[in-house]
Amino acid sequence: MTAILLRPAIGEDARFLADMLVEAANWSPSSRRPRVQVLADPALAPYISGWMRPADAGLVAESVSGDPIGACWFRLFDQSKPGHGFVAGGVPELTLGVSPLWRAQGVGRELLRGVASLARSRGYARLSLSVDRGNFAQRLYVSEGYVVVRSDDRADTMAKALA
Ligand SMILES: CC(C)(COP(=O)(O)OP(=O)(O)OC[C@H]1O[C@@H](n2cnc3c(N)ncnc32)[C@H](O)[C@@H]1OP(=O)(O)O)[C@@H](O)C(=O)NCCC(=O)NCCS
Repeated sequence: MTAILLRPAIGEDARFLADMLVEAANWSPSSRRPRVQVLADPALAPYISGWMRPADAGLVAESVSGDPIGACWFRLFDQSKPGHGFVAGGVPELTLGVSPLWRAQGVGRELLRGVASLARSRGYARLSLSVDRGNFAQRLYVSEGYVVVRSDDRADTMAKALA
């Protein structure tokens, strides 16, 4: 495990979180889209637009030199405008991304664990997410206690009980 620091995400992290959303959207090397296109996608923009709202929360992972290297955050979606991983009102949905050079060193798992603690401390009973089938990240989520609650032809919606 690489030495990293996790700190709370703040409003000024919007640009870096957007970078991590782009990484999450571009998880498959065979179908990468330009940043501007990902952030303009009406299905993806709601994960970051207007950051940081009162109920938004997350963590940024920093290297020992203080550079941001990954982030995980959660947001509440309304049933009238659900995210891909919507399971119920009051269940926030998370986004996770680690900068390419810092992957496979334990950063993603640390962020996931930290954000589960953060959500628990805010009183949430569950956290949800959406992951494309084929993304190895799904195995990471399973190992952290997320279970599939819904599937479509492309992706699985997963949730974790925080109690
Ligand atoms: C998915 C992601 C966040 C995981 O973060 P990470 O820091 O690379 O992952 P970790 O180092 O914490 O590894 C977590 C587990 O995944 C495994 N793993 C890491 N990289 C892997 C790879 N390329 N292929 C298969 N398994 C891998 C590790 O072996 C580890 O399991 P272990 O603890 O049993 O060894 C990161 O790779 C990433 O940003 N990917 C692109 C964006 C993305 O897919 N986001 C999620 C969208 S739902």
